[in-house]
Amino acid sequence: MSTFLPILNEVEKASIHERQPLPAAYLGLPDDEMALRIEAARAALGERLVILGHHYQRDEVIRFADYTGDSFKLAGAIANHPRADYIVFCGVHFMAESADILARPHQRVILPDLAAGCSMADMAPADQLEICWNELRQMGIAERTVPVTYINSAAAIKSLVGQNGGTVCTSSNAGATLKWGWQQKEKILFLPDQHLGRNTAYKMGVSLDRMVVWDPHEPFGGLTRDQLDQARLILWKGHCSVHVRFTAKQIDQVRREHPGIKVIVHPEVPFDVLQAADDSGSTEHILNTVRNSPAGSTWAVGTEVHLVHRLAEEVAPGKTVVSLDQFGCLCSTMFRVSPNHLLWVLDSLVDGDVVNEIVVPEEQKKWAKIALDRMLSIQ
Ligand code: 13P
Ligand code: SF4
Repeated sequence: MSTFLPILNEVEKASIHERQPLPAAYLGLPDDEMALRIEAARAALGERLVILGHHYQRDEVIRFADYTGDSFKLAGAIANHPRADYIVFCGVHFMAESADILARPHQRVILPDLAAGCSMADMAPADQLEICWNELRQMGIAERTVPVTYINSAAAIKSLVGQNGGTVCTSSNAGATLKWGWQQKEKILFLPDQHLGRNTAYKMGVSLDRMVVWDPHEPFGGLTRDQLDQARLILWKGHCSVHVRFTAKQIDQVRREHPGIKVIVHPEVPFDVLQAADDSGSTEHILNTVRNSPAGSTWAVGTEVHLVHRLAEEVAPGKTVVSLDQFGCLCSTMFRVSPNHLLWVLDSLVDGDVVNEIVVPEEQKKWAKIALDRMLSIQ
């Protein structure tokens, strides 16, 4: 049985998370001026720079991305530019950390605003996973279990999972990953998103009574040995605060208002919402499904509002897209990456100064990379 890697010390934490405030010179700039200056900085950096943009980014930012995609596609895009010096990741912290782990040694990864985190990833701190695994070991469960972490997790979690024979997954390969996991061991510990785990396993035919929820704030997860013995899937008690806002009631309402409408949701939504929807999948799957649907189709989309609005504009007037939540669910941390931040980090690079760099400690990289490489091979 392998042991756990050390958890980040305070100095390492500070070096990774220290946030430099946006300099005053970048506040209150007109949009047109920012766009021109961002383009000028991109041109000056040329092939030394790659910009990646997640689908939840705002229009004013994602328009400058060399690649747009879901987490899986963006993680794969890093290998396409082995000679680039800088990877600017317009997304959230765990995405930039994964980029740093997958990047070549000379490549430096920049997150335009270090405060762009992910509340779901924060629900699984490494010390809680360490306690969980030790308790599972005490109960004789760990050796029958493979750990799988959603990519929405800290590098320290990916490292612990890799070290214990597990893998990372994304919303686009979660089904294939669970299949892989059950080929390795009798049980899977899935973290941090209970909804993605439950929704995916149920789709594969696993009944709800073979799934248990591990509460990291309770001794032994709040579970008995017997419950864990029966379980095929141990779900970490975590969720996405954006996607849990969608409800089955909203689906009823949208079906009443738009007869014939199709509903497509991200698999981070709660179980009853996914059951009431017509389709589900990663952000890339949602975009492709709506784009490839017949002319005249009407869709209600249950995911982050920037993706939904952009998709609605793209497919209009041939197709209609509405948000499942009439107020639109915003990922406030994705929104932190502004064109002002993008311009600032690019200007700094032109001046030879790397700001807001994401550096995963070397001792975490080894096992986290094994887990991420495994992820990229499972489709
Ligand atoms: P995707 O990998 O489907 O883009 O999802 C990322 C995410 O954070 C969804 O909330
Ligand atoms: Fe994290 Fe949810 Fe935002 Fe995705 S939408 S980055 S899971 S908080």
